[in-house]
Amino acid sequence: MTQLPLIKLQDVSYTYSGATKPILDKINFTLHEKQHLGLIGSNGCGKTTFFHIIMGLLKPDSGMLFFKGNEMRNAQHFKKLRQEIGLLFQDADDQLFSPTVLEDVAFGLLNLGVGPVKARQIAIQTLGDLGLAELEKRITHQLSGGEKKLVSLATILAMQPKVLLLDEPTNNLDSTTRARLIKILTELDIAYVIISHDRDFLAETSQKVLTMTQGRVTE
Ligand SMILES: Nc1ncnc2c1ncn2[C@@H]1O[C@H](COP(=O)(O)OP(=O)(O)O)[C@@H](O)[C@H]1O
Ligand SMILES: [Mg+2]
Repeated sequence: MTQLPLIKLQDVSYTYSGATKPILDKINFTLHEKQHLGLIGSNGCGKTTFFHIIMGLLKPDSGMLFFKGNEMRNAQHFKKLRQEIGLLFQDADDQLFSPTVLEDVAFGLLNLGVGPVKARQIAIQTLGDLGLAELEKRITHQLSGGEKKLVSLATILAMQPKVLLLDEPTNNLDSTTRARLIKILTELDIAYVIISHDRDFLAETSQKVLTMTQGRVTE
């Protein structure tokens, strides 16, 4: 039996208001179960926009978006989708806002209605799994850039997503943190897409690297 793709975009176009032409122009894209994809493309070509379309943060002008075979058409659909797709923002400061690391990692779970005791337990477990147990009680805004990036990833993984979208995760990472991130990602058994300019990082983390040009994604 062939599995339905996790994510499928069919002829999706998007134009920012005021722009003269679409930034995404009839884009077609498929992500399968457990697939690890890289996405490369010049600055401003629309990579982040593409992730925001998938998350339902921007609404396409035309085209269709499917998640697990169902077309995502309204806010309710995207609300459910966002519980299963984790987006790692380009800037960790957009992701972290609680006073301590543990509170930040538990936040999403509490928001999903998980009880406080259970949320704390899952948060501790997730930080431990990522080798970040020693950061638990740290003040979030005092962390280094690399630590913030890993804690951001923990906040997402704690919610046990089916898919991860990572937007330029290696920016400003030192070589130790970068190596740690590679190890974490390659050991994940969920599907992910990584936007990056770092071809070596993509070679180590992705089965296939796609290119975005002129509003489309190609192999
Ligand atoms: N809110 C916005 N309004 C208008 N234009 C935008 C907005 N956000 C991004 N853009 C423009 O759309 C283009 C694509 O942006 P983006 O998807 O962030 O590119 P990338 O992630 O590939 O660098 C850029 O030229 C950017 O300036
Ligand atoms: Mg971007």
